[in-house]
Amino acid sequence: MKEKKMEKNRYYITTPIYYVNDVPHIGHSYTTIAADTLARYKRFIGDDLFFLTGTDEHGQKIQKTAQEKGVTPKELADSVVKNFKTLWEKLDISNDFFVRTTDDYHIKCVQEAFKRIYEKGDIYKGEYEGWYCVPCESYHSENDIGKNHICPDCGRAVELVKEESYFFKLSAYRDRLLEFYENNPDFVVPQTRYNEIKSFVKGGLRDLSITRTSFDWGIKVPFDKKHVVYVWFDALLNYISAIGYPFDEKFWQIWPADVHFVGKDILKFHAVYWPAFLMALDLPLPKHIVAHGWWTVDGKKMSKSLGNVVDPNEMIKKYPKDAYRYFLLRNVPFGLDGDFSEKELIGRINAELVNDLGNLLNRTLTMAEKYSNSIVEKPNNIQDDSLNKLSVETYKKIDADMNRFRFDEALSHIFEFIRAVNKYITVKEPWTLKKQNREQELKEVMYNVVSSLVYISGMLLAFMPDTAKEMWKQLGFTKNIDTYPLSFFLNFHSIDRIHIQKGDVLFEKIEADKKQKKDKKEEKISIDEFFNVDLRTAKILSAESVEKSKKLIKLKVDAGEEKPRTLVAGLKEYYKPEELVGKTIVIVANLKPAKLMGIESNGMLLAAKDGKSLGLLTVSDTDNIKPGSKIG
Ligand code: ME8
Ligand code: MG
Repeated sequence: MKEKKMEKNRYYITTPIYYVNDVPHIGHSYTTIAADTLARYKRFIGDDLFFLTGTDEHGQKIQKTAQEKGVTPKELADSVVKNFKTLWEKLDISNDFFVRTTDDYHIKCVQEAFKRIYEKGDIYKGEYEGWYCVPCESYHSENDIGKNHICPDCGRAVELVKEESYFFKLSAYRDRLLEFYENNPDFVVPQTRYNEIKSFVKGGLRDLSITRTSFDWGIKVPFDKKHVVYVWFDALLNYISAIGYPFDEKFWQIWPADVHFVGKDILKFHAVYWPAFLMALDLPLPKHIVAHGWWTVDGKKMSKSLGNVVDPNEMIKKYPKDAYRYFLLRNVPFGLDGDFSEKELIGRINAELVNDLGNLLNRTLTMAEKYSNSIVEKPNNIQDDSLNKLSVETYKKIDADMNRFRFDEALSHIFEFIRAVNKYITVKEPWTLKKQNREQELKEVMYNVVSSLVYISGMLLAFMPDTAKEMWKQLGFTKNIDTYPLSFFLNFHSIDRIHIQKGDVLFEKIEADKKQKKDKKEEKISIDEFFNVDLRTAKILSAESVEKSKKLIKLKVDAGEEKPRTLVAGLKEYYKPEELVGKTIVIVANLKPAKLMGIESNGMLLAAKDGKSLGLLTVSDTDNIKPGSKIG
C-alpha cells in the first residue's frame, strides 16, 4: 500500500495568501476557484495532491486598517480570516491546509530563512530612502512614481520613507534569474507575462529593502529586534512554511510547488523576488507561476468608493454555487481580463446549465423511467460507438487544456460533448424506436446516452463538484463518485446495469428581468451614491393651483439661492395652496428640469405616500435652519 503511494505523482498548488484588511470579493474567489479546480482535477487523475491557501496578516496596511477600526491587528485578522474560511467552505474549496502568517511555524520559518540568507551574505544592513506604496506594500523609484508621486501599479499616492533597513542582494541574482527563465520558458504562464518578466529583469534589478523600522506589526528580525521583516518577504515564505520548511522533513516530499496561481498584480513578486529568495536559500524553484487577468464589474473597475464590489456570498445566495464557479471559469480565457455581469451569468445558466446539461440528464432519465422501468443495461454488442470515440477525443483535449491552465477551453470541450449527446438523442429518436418496438436499438441508444452521462459527471467533477455528485446520485450510484478512478470514466462501457434514480432538475431557469427588479430593491447603495442626490431645505413662498390640472400645484420656493425656484408638484388632492405657504420642505435640488403642463419645474419635493394619504416632509426647527440647508 505504502509503495503504491510513492508511485503517485506529487503535485503542489497554491493560491496567493490574501490580505486581511478587507473581506473577500469576486477576485479572490476567482483565483481560489481556479486553483481548486486544478487541485480537484489532479486528484481525479490520481496525483498525490497538496493544495494550499491562506492569509497574509502582517504589514503597514493591516496595521493601519486595524487602527482605523479601533481593533488590534490580530483581532482584525482573526475576524477577517473567518470570512475567508467560511466563504471557501461555501464554495467547496478543497484546500488541504490554511496558512496564516501569524501562525507560529510561519514566524519561525521566516526568522530562520532570514538568518540563513544573512549568514550567507546576501542580506546586508543599510539605509532605505525612497517611496513606498502602502496599499501595494511595494517600493518604487523616483522614476516610477513620476511628478505626481503616485504608485505606478495602483495609482494611489506613495509616501516617502527614510529609515535604516536590511537589504536583500537582489541585483546579484539578475543573471541567474535570466538564465533560469531562458531554460524554463513556461515558468511564467501566459507567454506574454513571461516576456514582460524577462524584460523587466533584463532592465536591471536593485537590491530590495526587506525590513522596516517605522512600525511594528510584523515578524521581528531575530538578531535585530527593532526591525520587522518586509511583508512580501514574510508572505512569500508561506509557500514553504506551510509544508514544514525548514524543520520538518515532510517539506521535501511536497516542495517544489507545481503551480503558484496569482493575479497579474502580484506577478513580479512571484516571478522575480520569490525565485531569488529561493536561490538564496538553495531551494528548488517552483515549476509554474500562473498569472490570471483582472475582473471588472459591468465594465467598471471594482472599488469600494464606486460601491460595485461583488461579494461572492451574495452571488451564491442568488445563484447556485456551481453556476458561479462555472461562470467565472467559463466566461474568460484564463489569463485575460474579464468582466463580471449578472446578465451574462444568467445567460450562461439558462443556455448551458439548464438547456444543454440539465435537459440532457432530465430527458434521459425520464425516458429510462418510461421505457425500461429505470433500468439501463449493457447490450450484448454495440453497433454505434460514435459517442465512445468522441469521449476519448474530448478527454484528450480536456487534459491538454487543464495542463495549460485553460479552464475555459476545457469547459467548452465538455459542453461540446454534451451538445453532441443531445444531438445524438434527437437523431436517434428513442421515442420512435419505442413506438416501433425496436427494443435492441432502443437499449443501445439508452446505454450510450447513460454512459455519456456517467462520463460527463466525471469530467465536471473538478469544476462543479456538487452538480457532478447530484448527477451521479440520479444515475443510481451509491458509492461516492470520488472513489472511482479516472479509468472508470474513460472506459465508456464501465457499467453493466444501473438502476437510475431520477431526482430534481439540476438547474432552474432564471428569469433575468424578475431577478434584477428584485435585486434593485435589495441592493444596498454606498454613501457616495446617496450623496449624489442634493437634498436641501426650501421655504414655500407662494402656491397656486395649476389650471386645467387635477393634481398640480405651482410653488415658488426659497432654496437659499439668489432667486426663488419654481416647483410643480402633484399636491392638489391633498393640500389647499394656501395651506402650503410658509412651510419649510425638503427638495431634490439637482434634478434635471422637467416641464409639467407647460411649466418648468426645477426640483422635486419629498413626501411620504401611504395609499390615499400624503404627508409632506417638512423641517420643524425653522428658527435655526435656513432655506437651502444641506440634508444628509
Ligand atoms: O496581494 N480580479 O493580497 P490581496 C482578479 N497578500 N483577481 C483579483 C482581483 C480582481 N479584480 N482582485 C484581487 C496580496 N484578485 C498579497 C499576496 S501572496 C504571497 C501575497 C486576486 O488580498 C488576485 O489573485 O491583495 C490577486 O493577485 C490577489 O487577489 C490579491 O489579493
Ligand atoms: Mg492587492
